[in-house]
Amino acid sequence: MRHLAHLVRRFFGSLGTRRPAPTDQMLVAELLSPSESEVFWSQPVPDLAHALRSARTVGASSPGRTGLARAALLHDVGKRHSGIGTIRRSIATGLSILRVPARGRMASYLDHAAIGADELGRLGCEDLVVQFARHHHGLRPDHLSPEDWDALLRADDE
Ligand SMILES: [Fe+2]
Ligand SMILES: [Fe+2]
Repeated sequence: MRHLAHLVRRFFGSLGTRRPAPTDQMLVAELLSPSESEVFWSQPVPDLAHALRSARTVGASSPGRTGLARAALLHDVGKRHSGIGTIRRSIATGLSILRVPARGRMASYLDHAAIGADELGRLGCEDLVVQFARHHHGLRPDHLSPEDWDALLRADDE
């Protein structure tokens, strides 16, 4: 049910997003390496806006925890590989809720957590970043504390 509520908020949120501001660009430059930044900025505008809101939320709830902010910024980078927009993303999520198998780009979208985590691992990101990307639609991995997990999930709702 959390997944469905998240989808609805993201769908309406995606209709009114704008390009990131210079302060967002500074935040990304502070937190990410050049290769990570390249991946980050290759996301569609709604995904950029979601990632930046997530990073600011976790930055406010857990000040000084740059690892958490990095995890929030990068957790959805796997989505961009599907190349589908808001409506087809919503259909894909609906199929998954109904347990109807998706194919092609919709399947790629639904697999964005694993795809992004593998990519972040290849970039050399730390375990926290890779593991949150991999598990953020599932269950908390044992080595991630409940406090950090809750902070990141709250940020992902932004
Ligand atoms: Fe996600
Ligand atoms: Fe997300």
